[in-house]
Amino acid sequence: MNARMPADRRPTLFASANACGKVILVGEHAVVHGQPALAAGLAGALELTATRTPDPGAPVRVAIPAWDLDVDLRGDLEHPVAQACAEVLSHCDGPLTGWQIAGAPTIPARAGLGSSAALTVALARLALGPDADPEEVIAASMVGERVFHGEPSGVDSAVATYGGVLRFVRGRPPEPIRVAAPLRLVIIPSGVPRNTADQVARVRHNLERWPRVARPMLDAIGATTDAFQDALVGGHTERLGELMNFAHHLLAGLGVSSPVLDELCHRARAAGAAGAKLTGAGGGGCIIALANEATDPIVASMRARGLDPLVVEVQPC
Ligand code: MEV
Repeated sequence: MNARMPADRRPTLFASANACGKVILVGEHAVVHGQPALAAGLAGALELTATRTPDPGAPVRVAIPAWDLDVDLRGDLEHPVAQACAEVLSHCDGPLTGWQIAGAPTIPARAGLGSSAALTVALARLALGPDADPEEVIAASMVGERVFHGEPSGVDSAVATYGGVLRFVRGRPPEPIRVAAPLRLVIIPSGVPRNTADQVARVRHNLERWPRVARPMLDAIGATTDAFQDALVGGHTERLGELMNFAHHLLAGLGVSSPVLDELCHRARAAGAAGAKLTGAGGGGCIIALANEATDPIVASMRARGLDPLVVEVQPC
């Protein structure tokens, strides 16, 4: 709730707001079941700008052409994005009429890079303002994330809000992690769309059907995350690739990889990556590869496969 809004004033929006995207370094899916995850923010992932419309009674429109998105928050409520945006604005006591919201993203949508969390966080900031308590922003984002993903762990909303590198355990405050040395990652979008809720449901199904098999795999992902964090903080970058490979194989065992993602991980390793894994929900979306030395051969190999990789540097802080 936006406790600062006087009761006699029409709800309003701030002129602009932004949010980070995210790349999950390790721990996805296991984080839904109580294990830790490490995620890095992708700064400048989405900028939203809000302008008043001439008709104060016209429903709020959210248009993000790069994501093929143009929805009205009254007429399009069947659309999950419209529903999520309406719920975030209502949660923040923001307006549902009289505004046009335009978005300029630098990340693709539905690729596992946190586009829905970036949207819901930026929207909450448009309504709550730049000085809003980050935990209030996360709570508002989660209202929208539940529309998209059912019961999300909250890692995406936390990293979209705070950026940096975070250790996240469900139900606890996110913990910023000090990275000892820069980490050069190649993010490779497979071009295959995926649905986070379906992927999370697949793991839950496997856990219910085969608890004595799937539970230790989730625990092993948690142990991989702890080892990854120790290596990140201690500057043992040579261990990270191996741990990423472990994480990928455990996720594949839980049923959330795909032949394309497996093939891209093999291809990245063959081009010199120290390790590669799916990132996010899997099934499609992206893989991440950690370069042993130069990223160029990995980028060239992926371009030759018709893909459009992105090099990001996770900075020490
Ligand atoms: C999605 O980005 C990450 C998952 O672990 C789901 C979640 O944490 O809510 C697959």
